[in-house]
Amino acid sequence: MPIAFDKATNAITLSTVSSTYQMQVDRFGNLLHLYYGRRTEGCMDYLLTYADRGFSPSPYDAADDRTYSLDALPLEYPCEGVGDFRSPVLSVRDGRGAFGCDLRYRGHEVVDGKYGLPGLPAAYGADESDGAQTLRIMLSDERLGLEVTLLYGVLPKIDVITRAAILQNVGGQTLAIEKAQSACLDFVSGDFDVLSFNGRHAKERTLRRSAVDHVSQVVSSRRGMSSHQYNPMMILCDTDATETSGRCWSMSLVYSGDFKGEVERGQYDQTRMQLGLSDERFSYPLAPGESLVAPEVIMTFSNDGLDRLSQNLHECIARHVCRGEYRDVPRPVVINSWEATYFDFTGADILSLARSAADLGIDMLVLDDGWFGARDDDSRALGDWRVNEAKLGSSLAEFVGRINALGLRFGLWFEPEMVNENSDLYREHPDWALAIPGKPPVLGRSQLVLDFSRADVRENVFEQVCSVLDQANVEYLKWDFNRSIADVYSATAKGQGAVLYDYVLGLYDFLERLIARYPHLLIEGCSGGGGRFDAGMLYYAPQIWCSDNTDAYERLSIQYGTSFGYPASAVCAHVSACPNELNGRVTPLETRAAVALAAGGFGYELDLRKLSEAERDEVREQVRLHREIDALVRQGRCHRLSDPLAEPVAAWSFVSADGASALVEAVVPLAEANAPTRCVRLRDLTPGSLYRDRSSGAVYPADALMDAGLPLPLEPGDYRSYVIRLERVK
Ligand code: DGJ
Repeated sequence: MPIAFDKATNAITLSTVSSTYQMQVDRFGNLLHLYYGRRTEGCMDYLLTYADRGFSPSPYDAADDRTYSLDALPLEYPCEGVGDFRSPVLSVRDGRGAFGCDLRYRGHEVVDGKYGLPGLPAAYGADESDGAQTLRIMLSDERLGLEVTLLYGVLPKIDVITRAAILQNVGGQTLAIEKAQSACLDFVSGDFDVLSFNGRHAKERTLRRSAVDHVSQVVSSRRGMSSHQYNPMMILCDTDATETSGRCWSMSLVYSGDFKGEVERGQYDQTRMQLGLSDERFSYPLAPGESLVAPEVIMTFSNDGLDRLSQNLHECIARHVCRGEYRDVPRPVVINSWEATYFDFTGADILSLARSAADLGIDMLVLDDGWFGARDDDSRALGDWRVNEAKLGSSLAEFVGRINALGLRFGLWFEPEMVNENSDLYREHPDWALAIPGKPPVLGRSQLVLDFSRADVRENVFEQVCSVLDQANVEYLKWDFNRSIADVYSATAKGQGAVLYDYVLGLYDFLERLIARYPHLLIEGCSGGGGRFDAGMLYYAPQIWCSDNTDAYERLSIQYGTSFGYPASAVCAHVSACPNELNGRVTPLETRAAVALAAGGFGYELDLRKLSEAERDEVREQVRLHREIDALVRQGRCHRLSDPLAEPVAAWSFVSADGASALVEAVVPLAEANAPTRCVRLRDLTPGSLYRDRSSGAVYPADALMDAGLPLPLEPGDYRSYVIRLERVK
């Protein structure tokens, strides 16, 4: 059984195929964290050490035992005000405003299946054969009238343990929840590195690795979205961990708003890692009878390095977070109009782009920004979701009919959470935008954010979006979000510290209604590229536009960083024109395609009508190749074969579940005169077998490919790329 309780030791143990997680209820009813690591048996309370430590105080009920201090013990859900002075996971103020919460164990229960969360996305168990179980641990502080249920979901076959918490006010006073993280891991000793994924617009999820020291390290968003700047996912690992060796632990937040992740090495060299909601701009008033859900964190452990860790996360997100009919099937190859025309188009332009795309074998035209209201530039009309029939030259139904008649499906861009001051919606309902009375609002791309914490605001936008979708055969929706939330004030909020959290719940409520009403719609997430690339959004949209940066070279490090926490099936990547619109770089069409082909959402984002005949032939070939390798990319095991930030070759591979086929891709960004041989060492092939290169017919021993590697051709020219397809022949 994945979850077991041992009465003799009061230990609760969670087991997956390769990992063990253990807690213990101690003699005072405090819940201690004992262990999270490789699979083992027994009770790990031998790891607890006790000593009379100066300035580490003792709880009142242990006061005659000065060796007992929560400041020195590994804790499962540490609270502020109990004598543990590390960064707390829970901070609560009572009706008088005093800080302090003392949670004690009251009981636990185990049920089959994986829990869900009310109003929030959460990983789900696929079916009974995955053996998922849920553990609920009930804690409470009777003085406060606060009950906390710690939720643990175990997906044993993929080495995943999830955590969440539900806080319920069962007393008579309103409590203020000042901080409520979802998961915490305390290690009693060890030297670790922390891996985080930071960036900016057009440079998302760049890997950073640094030593954990006596300086608190924080990844967070205070932008109202998970953000380009930090991804809500982090990894702790042994200082010498590599792709294929060493212990690593990860936490990924299934949430799309402000978050905070912390790693702190304490005074006794213990390490605490925690992740959850941000405590900035957050103070949640919890009235008697009310509950607050701390969103889910997906955790996994690998004893065999980062590659294994990522496999677990890929599997979890692709099969236990993403939903809907597009989860497991090929996605349409799209031509997206944005970098082809921006706002400057007529219906006739889009139809001729579609004609050009149909001739290349592309499946779908996605009409990006500019099709509604008076939206001829980015200063107006957000909020007015009415088709601009004058611009399209017909009704949407007729227009889509013409696209469909060309053999193409049709998709449409929306940015439902936004409003321009220059819009009919804003003129009618200025109070629907998030703005602080008396303070001129901060503008981002000339737009304001609608108050999605309000049901009436959501309802209006929902009706508008549905009325467009109901007019025509729209099969794809790109959901964009193009600014950070700076001003937080909602006219109807129960407390302003609750607005950002309730906003995210409002967003999820909208998305849930949308997918219930349009179950066949494929939703692509987007936020100025990859500013909201998180497991929360992936619950509603199985693919997300990875970055506005479509340059093949910079995409190498963006997609590399993304691959640590997210499967290729979740990534959207398009081939765009050169010189690249953001950085002016010129790369071969072949290489732009090689990089974009490593994504589940493949397509083009350029004016196809400007391609030469030779380039058009190349594109036809790329689309054909995509169809052949697509299943391998979306469903195969993805391996990072080099670090593009540090090595002269960027290389990665996808290997089918049965090991029978492999796709190896490599890019050599800078050519060198008289260059040394560059060998790419492969991984995950079937030992003892032979693999044949489908293009050249050359046959290689698998073990040699994994040991000495595969030499890349020595060719002149920058940004050369290689797409090598191997099949097992013996
Ligand atoms: C930002 C997105 O990332 C782009 O792809 C495009 O959709 C624009 N917004 C449109 O305004």
